[in-house]
Amino acid sequence: MILEGKNVVLGVTGGIACYKAVDLCSKLVQAGATVDVMMTEAATRFVTPLPFQTITKRPVALDMFQLLGEVDMAHISLSARADVMVIAPATANTIAKIVYGLADNQVTSTVLASTAPLVVAPAMDADMWASPITQGNVETLRRRGATIVGPGSGRLASGRIGAGRLASTEELMAAIRQTLGRRGALAGRRVTVTAGGTQEPLDPVRRLTNRSSGRMGYALAEAARDAGACVRLIHAPTALPPVYGVEMTPVTTAQDMLEAVLAALPETDALLMAAAVADYRPAQAAEQKIKKGAGDEGLTLALERTADVLATVAQEPDGRRPAAVVGFAAETEDLLANAQAKLRAKRLDLMVANDVSAPDSGFEVETNRVVLLTPDGAEEALPLLSKSAVAERIVARVAAILEEKARG
Ligand code: CTP
Repeated sequence: MILEGKNVVLGVTGGIACYKAVDLCSKLVQAGATVDVMMTEAATRFVTPLPFQTITKRPVALDMFQLLGEVDMAHISLSARADVMVIAPATANTIAKIVYGLADNQVTSTVLASTAPLVVAPAMDADMWASPITQGNVETLRRRGATIVGPGSGRLASGRIGAGRLASTEELMAAIRQTLGRRGALAGRRVTVTAGGTQEPLDPVRRLTNRSSGRMGYALAEAARDAGACVRLIHAPTALPPVYGVEMTPVTTAQDMLEAVLAALPETDALLMAAAVADYRPAQAAEQKIKKGAGDEGLTLALERTADVLATVAQEPDGRRPAAVVGFAAETEDLLANAQAKLRAKRLDLMVANDVSAPDSGFEVETNRVVLLTPDGAEEALPLLSKSAVAERIVARVAAILEEKARG
């Protein structure tokens, strides 16, 4: 939702990656942003303004002396309007001009005139990127507060393999969202999120795990990042791509997760425990593969309890326990009674109760229907929402809890 109604000014400068800016532009519009595109003369050699104009339904600014509307000089009106300014792709030449304050075309003059947060996505051949001049310039931009996203490595237009590819649209979108959210409700807060189903080894080829996909936890990490938080995501193995702008800590077992969470506590203001942590593990993980002959009459596995991460955190002394601790209750019956009991037992500030027996809510789907419970007994039932929308609502509640606690 963070892009909804925002004004994004997208500067496209001349490189082969220009065609990818069309996709970025489309995704920004789909996310609800108003996008104004400006292009350098060189960029128009690679793609014409037409696709941008078609997607944004707005004129593309090409010429510094062009009027957008009746009397608005484009570089002045765009720089004032921008909530965020994005240069993608950014050539070595444009980066250098921005650093030195040159204002010789629509893009550079708009950047110079603007105080909006700046996202720069370099794309160029590997040698230009590796040049100490470019590296120095990029460092200068970073020091001045710009978000530098990419470049990625891989096959370049020249045929060489190296660094210089424009970051993916997903990364660019994430960087733009993170930059827009810098002063959000969780600015300056440190949030630890856990996600995914832990895996408990049975033998070298088998493990006990559960159906958690990790989606809810990943959505929470994104939402917390987009609200300005510094986020660590402690995750069991998942099939999901890493979350941009978030410190990723991979773990496997419940014990690993416990250790990672305890290690993160001194730097955690809010802990969001969305992981599905195994309650039991094989009492002994066999060193060799268990053979079929081991149990002709059937095989009984001996299981032992794992540590409960939230219960352990609940026992931590006050200074070490995060100011906000959020638990998740996945239930198939007696949702609210079970969730209330866990909220009290684990000393939570917020419990997200989730009926996982419904086909549209819970495991392996994009949507969730949850009830938010607080220690005062209040219950807020949210409608069926996407997991990202649920995550935004939870993050807003976490921000409110932290604020309330800070007020004392
Ligand atoms: N949890 C945890 N450590 C465990 C098990 C669960 O920290 N070993 C956390 C989960 O991450 C979740 C909350 O506790 O935030 C509730 O998890 P859930 O599996 O619903 O509850 P349990 O306490 O394990 O109870 P039960 O399995 O009996 O329903």
